[in-house]
Parts: sequence; structure tokens; C-alpha cells
Amino acid sequence: MPHPLFRKKSITSILADAQSGLSDATHSASGLKKVLRVKDLTAMGIAAVVGAGIFSTIGNASFHGGPGVSILFILTAVCCGFSALCYAEFASRIPVSGSAYTYAYASFGELIAWIIGWDLLMEYAIGNIAVAISWSEYFVNLLEGLHIHIPHFLTTDYLSASRGFKEATALLANGGALESLPSNIRDGYLAWTNAPHLGSLKLIADVPALGIVFFITWLVFRGIRETRRATNLMVGFKIIILLAVIAIGCFYVAPANWSPFLPNGFGGMMKGVSAVFFAYIGFDAISTTAEECENPQRDLPRGMIYSLIICTVLYIAIALVLTGMVSYKELQVGDPLAFVFKRIGLNQISYIISFSAVIATASVLLVFQMGQPRIWMSMSRDGLLPKAFSRIHPKYKTPSFATIVTGLFVAIPALFLNLTEVTDLTSIGTLFAFVLVCGGVLLLPKREEGEAPPKFKIPYINSQFIVPVLFVLGVIFFWKNFVGLFDFSQEWEVFKDKLPFFLFVILSAAIAIASFVKKLSLIPVLGLASCFYLMTELGFTNWLRFLIWLVIGLAVYFLYSRNHSKLNKNKRIKQESLF
Ligand code: ALA
Repeated sequence: MPHPLFRKKSITSILADAQSGLSDATHSASGLKKVLRVKDLTAMGIAAVVGAGIFSTIGNASFHGGPGVSILFILTAVCCGFSALCYAEFASRIPVSGSAYTYAYASFGELIAWIIGWDLLMEYAIGNIAVAISWSEYFVNLLEGLHIHIPHFLTTDYLSASRGFKEATALLANGGALESLPSNIRDGYLAWTNAPHLGSLKLIADVPALGIVFFITWLVFRGIRETRRATNLMVGFKIIILLAVIAIGCFYVAPANWSPFLPNGFGGMMKGVSAVFFAYIGFDAISTTAEECENPQRDLPRGMIYSLIICTVLYIAIALVLTGMVSYKELQVGDPLAFVFKRIGLNQISYIISFSAVIATASVLLVFQMGQPRIWMSMSRDGLLPKAFSRIHPKYKTPSFATIVTGLFVAIPALFLNLTEVTDLTSIGTLFAFVLVCGGVLLLPKREEGEAPPKFKIPYINSQFIVPVLFVLGVIFFWKNFVGLFDFSQEWEVFKDKLPFFLFVILSAAIAIASFVKKLSLIPVLGLASCFYLMTELGFTNWLRFLIWLVIGLAVYFLYSRNHSKLNKNKRIKQESLF
């Protein structure tokens, strides 16, 4: 018998649970509506992927990486591609709405499943906080263009305002003029100085961010059919806009801007990992709609892979056009796509881009607001969350309570949190989920009796020699960094920044040995290692925050979920051995 923390659900029981979920006390007789096809899923993938990343965070990544940021888009797409294949295999084997959470329940057991469910909150809910903040930025820009002005203290967060105020005060004291300050500093200063206050507490909050989350939550609450229609419309629109940016922009590319291609070397390029990876997050979110697909085993893998390929092509082209139109040094702005057109005097186009960014980011919000309740629904079915989370609305057929809780969970922090911090947390949390999904495929149990043959399977390539050879080559190539890791006389302050890479080296060595001994499948192994490597680029502070987040999650598990778990209550459910 496995230890209770590692009790697993068999795939047949997961599928049976999802079926019985349709008619148990917490669900209406007809359950969720099965209306999604491969076209809708691809659209939904694009809807979730193309948003704040390509319209906003790409600016900062280009500033650090130069034109070479396009290489980072390719590298990140390859890592995401490995993960997409792993997601696709899982989605084909276990087409229920819990996504990576459910996959982990079948491959790693309950504790890791809980951790990943908790971690997915970072990708979906925390990610959506970032998207809502970014949406608000573009929306306010757009209103400014229409000469409608909302006071700054109602459109920013406390931290940005207080930082802006401090920086502006210092610059003004040195004789600077308010009008000549960078816009983010000036806006922060104005928000801080004009905000009403309660005693010494300034009342500063991002109200449009709250508003858009409430609106999207209402849309999602009303049902999948409406969501699908809205998603397809928004996706069509944003693809047309991105194609137009590429088509018009390429006439204004000055090839001199592409030289040097990597002005700050590999290190500068890798500073953009969080921003670029953020731009790809979302293709996996469609796996949460498994129970609303007409043919999930066939269509989910296709939808994920098609959306990833389309986005990759668009992103690489956009990165090249952007860095070709102006010098990368000018791109540290929140609205780079609109900025480059304004910079060359095409103000009308810049205005249309701002409008489309508002639409694009809203569609990302839509998909993630839809995904999060469905993960909670699966966790609730397993008893790890209270029953209310799996309640289906009798009329709209959507997980009603979970949808409302998600709305509040995203909307309220969006009032107060800062974009960069939230983006980094989202990226590290999502990368961790990808690592576990890739690892999970390696542990996926063999086909059970009575289980239909999967319609998608990752092609098997033996990693026995390839991975150990790659490991040795990596050590030789990065010999200097490698030796630096094992200098145990160095101070903690120095070592702590190397700690993530140190863990990566240890993990890679373990994977190389496991590959040699167990002849593991190459694609999941490469996915696991490459996503873990990207995590190492996110810095110690983000690792620490992520760890604190996981510790809180473990506390919830041990205080509530472990005892309420259905597997704990119902010993008749089939359990499998630990490994
Ligand atoms: N990929 C999504 C975006 O860029 C999260 O907004």
C-alpha cells in the first residue's frame, strides 16, 4: 500500500468520477455542455496566449536582450513545445477538466496533485491579476486618447504610486521639471499627491482592473456558449491586428537596428525569460475545458499544438519587426507596439494598437477566469476543497460558486498589486507546473483494463545515451559556472543567487542517470530539464516567494484537504502502489 500522501487515483476511476459528477448531488443532470471543437480550442489557446506578454512585457525583454529577444522567443517556444506535447498526451489519456492537477493525481499521487493544483492558482488567478493590471494600463491610455481622464490615484497601485513619488521627488529636488519626467514616474507622483487619505493611509487603487475582472467573471458565469462566441470574435480581431503590425511594420524596418543582434550577450537576452515566457502562458489552459469538448481526446492535443505554433510564428515576427523599427534601447515602455508606430509618426495606427491591446488582454482574462474554477471543481470532486466548488449552476451549467470566488480572488488584489512582481510569480509558478507535467508523463501508468487506447501519444525516442551526453557537454561548456557552484567557502549572500542553478545541476545529473538506467522517453525529459532551467533564470527572490506560496498551500492541505480527501474517506476506491 502506498503512503496515504501518495495515494493515486487510477485513470479509469478519474474518468468514472467525471461521469458520475454529472449526476451527483452537486451537479445538474446534464452537467457541463459539450460544445467545443478543435477550431474553438485553437482559438481559445490563442485567446489565452496572445495578450499582455506580446503587447506589453516584450518591451522590457527587448530592452535587455536587443533584437536577439527573437531567439529567446524561439528557445522558450521549444521548451513550451515539449510541455505542450506532455499536456497533450495527458489530455488525451485523461480528458477531464482538472488539467495538470488531475494528471498529477494519476501519476504522482495526492500530495503532488494538491501542490500542483495550488500552484496552478499562480498561473491562472495570479496570472490574471497581472493581465488585469496590464489591461487597465492600456484602457487608461485609450481613454486619454479620447480626452477622457480618470484621476491617477484610481488607475494605479499603491506600490507604483509610492515608488513614483519617491523617484519624482528626488528628480524634482535636482531641478527636473514634472513634465519632463518619464510618464510612469510622473503618473505615480500625481497619484500619490492627489489621492484622498484616511489618516496617513493614501487611498490608491486600480479601479479599471477591478471593473474588467467583474465584467469577465459575469461573462464566464453566464456560460461556455457565450464565452466561446466572445473568444472567437476577439481572437479573430487580435490576429488581424498582429498581422497588420507585422505587414506595415516591416516597411519601416531599418536593418541597422538589428546590429548588434545580441548587444548584452546571452545574459542580457536571458533577463527577458519571465516576460517572454509569460507571453506563452495559456496554451495549456484549454485542457481545463476537457469536459466541454465534443471529442477531447482527439481535439485537445491538436488545439494546444496548433495554438502554440501560430503564436510562436507571430511572436518571432513581431519581435523582429519591433526591434527593427527602432533601437532596442528605446523599448523599455509599457506599450511597445503602440510606441514604435507613434515613434515613426503613425499615430492613428498606434491608437488602433492600443484599442486592440485592450481586446487582446480581455480575451486572456476570459480564458483564465474560465480555467481556474474548473480546476477547483476537480479538486472539490476529489474532496480536497469544499463541495460548493463543484456546484454547477442549474441554468447556465457553469461552476457557479467557483467562478464567483475566482472573480473576487483576482479582482480585489488587482486593485493593489504591482505588475512586475505579479508577472514574475506567474512565470515561476507556471514553469513549475510544466516541470511536474513533463515529469508526470514519465510516471504515467500503463493503459488500464477497460481504458480506451489514447488518440495521441508522444513519439518515443530513447534518451539512454542522448541525455547523459548532453549533460556532460553542458558541464564542459559551462565549466567555469559549474566549478563556481561547488566553492563551499563562499558567503550565503553570494551563493543564494546561484542556488537555483545549483539545484538545476543536481536535478540534471539525476535525470541523466535515470535516463541511462530506465531508457526514459526523450521529449518529456527535455521538457522537464528545459523548464527547470528557465526557472533558474528567475532569481532567488522569486524562488523564495514561490516557496512561501507552496508552504501556505501545504498548510491548507494538512489542515483540511488530507482529511476530507475522497480517497481517504472511501477506501474502496482503487489505489495503486507507490512506484
Ligand atoms: N500569455 C498571456 C499574456 O501574455 C498570459 O497575457
